Amino acid sequence: MNAVSTAEADELLCVTGLSVAFGPEPTDVVVDDLSFSLRAGRTLGVVGESGSGKSMTSLAIMGLLPPEAIASGSIRFGDQELLQQSDRQLRAIRGDRIGMIFQDPLSSLNPYYTVGFQIAEAYRAHRQATSAQAKKVAVEAMERVSIREPQRRFDHYPHQFSGGMRQRIMIAMALVCEPDLIIADEPTTALDVTVQAQILRLLTDLQRDTGVGMLFITHDLAVVSEVAHDVLVLRDGRQMEAGTAEQVFSQPRDAYTRHLLDATPRIDEAEEDGS
Ligand SMILES: Nc1ncnc2c1ncn2[C@@H]1O[C@H](COP(=O)(O)OP(=O)(O)OP(=O)(O)O)[C@@H](O)[C@H]1O
Ligand SMILES: [Mg+2]
Repeated sequence: MNAVSTAEADELLCVTGLSVAFGPEPTDVVVDDLSFSLRAGRTLGVVGESGSGKSMTSLAIMGLLPPEAIASGSIRFGDQELLQQSDRQLRAIRGDRIGMIFQDPLSSLNPYYTVGFQIAEAYRAHRQATSAQAKKVAVEAMERVSIREPQRRFDHYPHQFSGGMRQRIMIAMALVCEPDLIIADEPTTALDVTVQAQILRLLTDLQRDTGVGMLFITHDLAVVSEVAHDVLVLRDGRQMEAGTAEQVFSQPRDAYTRHLLDATPRIDEAEEDGS
């Protein structure tokens, strides 16, 4: 293994020259020569309009690109090159060292199993544990995401929870193996603004307590300004701007970022839902 310099020592994820293409034509390229890195305890916000390549970037990191997509470049996670791992190796990493939170918890949760069982199984997929031990870990995870009466709620089904509570269940699942990295792709987009704010606060609190690194994908600059230490702005798969959140928000260097900032709607159409 190569020696790493001190500057890179706590680097969790280092993406270099990542490209993703769906064919040989230049127009088939959906992620174009991206480079960025993420340290433990930091959140990198990846922003861009629909179709800018945010999800393809996160899927490339998780090894979940559609089979017809061709990825090139380098994705180093700790001392592993993710683009060179087998499907089996990637399955071992996902859900263990890398936790994932998606936009729509209903499509990620199985409607036929209780939420507690699903969190416990996410744990047992990577750890040797009896069902009693896994249940204890799952109840603790439900507690950590502020689900009241977790012992009782353990036996409830996904449809018995509100959208915000289901997203908390997904976060509990993503955290149950204490990952080093969380990839969250539009985790609050389906929620109304009040619940969204609660989930963002939960994520930032959990990050402060655990030191997990977070890649937070959103089209919403207002959300990114709430959670991100660093920001990467994408357009048509290309990096338009990168820097600390402070730099990007106070002095955007790129005209496209300024355009996005100007276009950010005021988020005051919130409905109170209290879930
Ligand atoms: N299977 C596919 N074949 C060809 N092109 C695809 C395929 N899947 C996605 N794309 C294209 O890849 C580009 C990037 O898509 P991606 O899903 O990463 O965008 P995104 O930034 O996540 O957008 P959104 O905000 O809508 O989620 C889009 O132009 C999309 O049309
Ligand atoms: Mg997307």
